[in-house]
Amino acid sequence: MATIVPSVSWPGACWTLLVCCLLTPGAQGQEFLLQVEPQNPVFPAGGSLLVNCSTDCPSSKQIILETSLSKELVDNGTGWATFQLSDVTGNSRILCSGYCNGSQITGFSDITVYSLPERVELAPLPSWQPVGQNLTLRCQVEGGSPRTSLTVVLLRREEELSRQPAVGEPAEVTATVPTSRKDHGAHFSCRTELDMKPQGLGVFWNTSAPRQLRTFALPVTSPRLVAPRFLEVEKSWPVNCILDGLFPASEARVYLALGDQMLNATVMNHGDMLTATATATARADQEGAREIVCIVILGGERLEARENLTVFNGPKIDRATCPQHLKWKDKTRHVLQCQARGNPYPQLRCLKEGSNREVPVGIPFFVNVTHNGTYQCQASSSRGKYTLVVVMDIEAPNSHSVPVILAVLVTLGVVAVVVALIYVFREHKRSGRYHVREESTSLPLTSMQPTEAMEEEPSRAA
Ligand SMILES: *[C@@H]1O[C@H](CO)[C@@H](O)[C@H](O)[C@H]1NC(C)=O
Ligand SMILES: *[C@@H]1O[C@H](CO)[C@@H](O)[C@H](O)[C@H]1NC(C)=O
Ligand SMILES: *[C@@H]1O[C@H](CO)[C@@H](O)[C@H](O)[C@H]1NC(C)=O
Repeated sequence: MATIVPSVSWPGACWTLLVCCLLTPGAQGQEFLLQVEPQNPVFPAGGSLLVNCSTDCPSSKQIILETSLSKELVDNGTGWATFQLSDVTGNSRILCSGYCNGSQITGFSDITVYSLPERVELAPLPSWQPVGQNLTLRCQVEGGSPRTSLTVVLLRREEELSRQPAVGEPAEVTATVPTSRKDHGAHFSCRTELDMKPQGLGVFWNTSAPRQLRTFALPVTSPRLVAPRFLEVEKSWPVNCILDGLFPASEARVYLALGDQMLNATVMNHGDMLTATATATARADQEGAREIVCIVILGGERLEARENLTVFNGPKIDRATCPQHLKWKDKTRHVLQCQARGNPYPQLRCLKEGSNREVPVGIPFFVNVTHNGTYQCQASSSRGKYTLVVVMDIEAPNSHSVPVILAVLVTLGVVAVVVALIYVFREHKRSGRYHVREESTSLPLTSMQPTEAMEEEPSRAA
């Protein structure tokens, strides 16, 4: 009898074996049962449990509870004893035994404990996820039993992305999903499901803290920068930076700078199009070649555009609008398009080298071969002078054309004279025939016409 009282914990298999050995001899003379209440309980791990061992045998003795768990006799009476089990962390079988009329009687109950996971956590998501690329979700689960009843579910909002058993400690579950624009702002999470329905309980859910995804898309093109090529000191000029195909355009950051000077940009977006507008005002110490820079940052990536510009003070001639080599035709109308800039507004004059002959600027004028040459175009104001050299190349008319025109004119003249002579001679003959009738009127005509024609002929031919 002393052998069945354990002082240390026994493995479950040994208990089962012991129960079988004990039941076999007792079953022969046993007509009373030893009942264990509750039967096969299921309860949360770590809790305590009252177990009542009772029998209808009127002369029962020595009712004890055999278990590896820590136990305490709470109360007893005739045919019963109640024990408290504490700190029940795992599944186990408990056994009550006693004596009835000298025979041993036993009864047992299987304890099933469950525990919810201590930690369910979705690993941090990338701060920005490029649209179209796969996203790997990783969920870690610590604790939770029985593991055979524990499932891990990965979720996008309420949508199940993957469902897998929890394996290992901690259990790690991963899933890879493609991402789209629709996932921008979506919450991802993971949930454990402890299914205790077969044990007569429900399903216990534990959900991780959600993590929000940010997706982005960038165009392959650079921003388009619209800026002046020349910027006068202390004059304001608008600068625009435009970029299309950006998602989400509202979350992009834009920096506009003139050299080292940050510009105060107003950013607007319409759909996937972003427009940043700023007013550039150059300082006197920024005079010279500078750069306007536009940087768009989204999803930790940057796109930029750079444009060169010249900050000027005092007079200047805009080289882009003032062609430095002109090729014009003789006796044609043209405008010398040069423009000067500056504050105060400079005077612009273009003088021919050598002769100091001035040509009008910005006004149409007839050019001829005498304009051929090199000109000094000078913008001058109280702030200084700026000179630009302009070469005018006037194409003279083709030298063969003059004799050709003359030859044509002479030929036409000769033909005209011959035709006139023929006419005159015919008239002369006709007037001779009717001489008698129209004597008074025809006579001066006949004598005058050949004379005029004869006088005209040598002068034309000359
Ligand atoms: C244990 O069970 C017996 C028989 O059912 C009952 O008489 C007794 O009151 C119970 N003890 C406790 C503490 O519930
Ligand atoms: C995303 O994952 C799927 C399935 O694992 C694969 O077929 C596809 O090529 C991946 N796409 C990218 C862009 O990596
Ligand atoms: C930028 O603009 C804001 C609002 O228009 C203004 O309050 C601020 O002074 C400006 N900053 C600079 C450096 O111009």
